[in-house]
Amino acid sequence: MKINDSNIKKTIKYLNNDECVAIPTETVYGLAANAYSKNAVSKIFKLKKRPRSNPLIVHYHNINQLKKDCELNSVFRRLYKKFCPGAISFVLKLKKTSKISKIVTNNSNLVAVRFPSHHLTRKILKEIDYPLAAPSANISSSISPVSKQDVIDEFGNKIKFVLEGGSSKVGLESTIINLVGKPNILRLGGIDSKTIYKFIKSSKNNQKKEVNVKMPGSRKLHYSPGIPMRLNVKKNNYDEAFILIKKRKKKNKNYFYLSKTKNLKEAAKNLYKTLRKIKKNRYKKIAVEKIPNVQIGEAINDRLLRASKNEKFN
Ligand code: TXA
Ligand code: MG
Repeated sequence: MKINDSNIKKTIKYLNNDECVAIPTETVYGLAANAYSKNAVSKIFKLKKRPRSNPLIVHYHNINQLKKDCELNSVFRRLYKKFCPGAISFVLKLKKTSKISKIVTNNSNLVAVRFPSHHLTRKILKEIDYPLAAPSANISSSISPVSKQDVIDEFGNKIKFVLEGGSSKVGLESTIINLVGKPNILRLGGIDSKTIYKFIKSSKNNQKKEVNVKMPGSRKLHYSPGIPMRLNVKKNNYDEAFILIKKRKKKNKNYFYLSKTKNLKEAAKNLYKTLRKIKKNRYKKIAVEKIPNVQIGEAINDRLLRASKNEKFN
């Protein structure tokens, strides 16, 4: 894809003017605004219909930008070196001098931060002198967007601009790890939990005390009816869209392949796109083949389980 500098300039202009714009990341598209501006971030909550009690992730270009806002510890530095930029977010302590709007963190002294790897968004983050608060660019409770068209389907002309950045490579949100006290994963995501825990274990770690950090967005709130979903299904009923991960001999119009070869990364990339397609095709029921609960399959199963229980996405 060609880098279109005029679109980057346009995005930056909107952001400088305290507007919200949608930006591509490797995980999902984000609805971004200046994290230092109360006026700008208020618009995110309004547009997403997101409760103010649910804090936002703040996006940076690199560790140097982050230093102004957060207390950094040694585990963070090691994880940063290993996995960033990439599909991982960290919960850290805010510095008292941080300029991040209190609305972003819901008045907490902790903040979730991340360094996305998408080349266009990195260009923007490098250029501006503030970080970007950016939740997934969907209305609360809906499916996260993985393309420009998905964002347009969510918001129509309610947002000023969507920066085209192709389809998101990972296709699932970032893994969130709490680094206040003993590291613990709060949300499964793009980088699998085993790889992260293994890496932490293999490096010296003096943080033993557990600090219970809650993830407000994972509360089991029931939301407006999605589509009923059965998991670990071997054979679908005639009226069910059937989500598959391995090619079947027979052809069937109800079959929706995440992958034809059990490739879990490919499956993750296709998950939200497929759910959207099934919804657009007006299916009333979904069945899903068993997805191996390893590597990124863990995060796929986490999202499917939430969807099947009608839990809240955000
Ligand atoms: O991949 C991603 O992380 C995407 C892209 C756009 O960066 N963003 C994303 O944001 O998924 P969002 O807002 O849809 O989900 C962020 C989750 C929410 O469930 C929120 O409750 C949790 O992160 N969160 C944010 N700040 C937190 C904090 N200080 N402590 C614990 N959880 C936090
Ligand atoms: Mg979200």
